[in-house]
Amino acid sequence: MSVRRLADEAIQPSGFAFTRENKAWAKETIKKYPKGRQYSAVIPLLMRAQDQDGWVTRAAVEHVAEMLDMPLIRVLEVATFYTQFQLEPVGTKAHVQVCGTTPCMLRGAGDLIDVCKKKIGPEPFKTNGAGTLSWEEVECQGACVNAPMVMIFKDTYEDLTPERLEEIIDAFEADKGDSIEPGPQVDRYTSAPASGFTTLTDENAILKQPQSAQSAGDETAGTMIPPSRAGKPKTGAMETSKAVKSPSPVKASGADEKSASAEAPKENDTQADRPAEETEQTERTRTHSDRPKSEEPELRSPQLKKAKASKETQPGPETPVESERPAAKSRRGTQKKPR
Ligand code: FES
Repeated sequence: MSVRRLADEAIQPSGFAFTRENKAWAKETIKKYPKGRQYSAVIPLLMRAQDQDGWVTRAAVEHVAEMLDMPLIRVLEVATFYTQFQLEPVGTKAHVQVCGTTPCMLRGAGDLIDVCKKKIGPEPFKTNGAGTLSWEEVECQGACVNAPMVMIFKDTYEDLTPERLEEIIDAFEADKGDSIEPGPQVDRYTSAPASGFTTLTDENAILKQPQSAQSAGDETAGTMIPPSRAGKPKTGAMETSKAVKSPSPVKASGADEKSASAEAPKENDTQADRPAEETEQTERTRTHSDRPKSEEPELRSPQLKKAKASKETQPGPETPVESERPAAKSRRGTQKKPR
């Protein structure tokens, strides 16, 4: 993305004022925000200024800052950050924004850019001779599933071919942009499969009533599907009682809450009173070997029982004490010295 600055002083108009209608709209928009939060209206106001003049001028930035009683630098930051604000004059009849992000590029955005270069001009942001058309490459416009696409003003034109884009540009140039239906430019419904529906193809099947309703001849019964019970709690807890319609308006006292609460088990009380470190240490030093026999889980598998019995009767090789262990051979000692 290029550096975004306000346009050259040579082309900046000397002043800016909203039209009467836009001024009334701007005042109403500012009122939508809480007192002291009028800065929040900066984007809608800048956008309105752009809609009015076609681009965001220095004078418009200053005017919006004044209206919102906002530091000029803050308004400038917003105007120069968001790429939807045009900081230079664009085509008066159409400014074509071609998406050049990966999905669109893979589906032919490069060819669409070539069309723009041919029909409008070789450079982005530069208007054609008559000042009616301009173009630029933009990042994803969120219509990737119908790539490639362009945006003109606030409408998107999707599933484009170079030929179709040429027709669209010609229509805007001839002031007939309204005759082009925005959205997919092929025979598909929004982003449904381009080759036609693959599921839910039979409308009758979708709208069919349940068998029971048809046989009973009751047309309304077919639409009365009872709500699912999925996710309904199946507990006998007091909170789920159907008798409880709303939270009790009476606040229980601390003493009442305590008396209604279940007592914590005694052993947990002791555990909870112990300092954390001590608790942790106790848990860590406790191993299977020092677990009392009575606490050992009973083995259920006959194979494991057999293995345990034989282990108890045949003592394994004694582990040699450290001093009796043969000295481990140094790895280095076994290696040949390089000559
Ligand atoms: S990549 Fe082009 S619209 Fe998303």
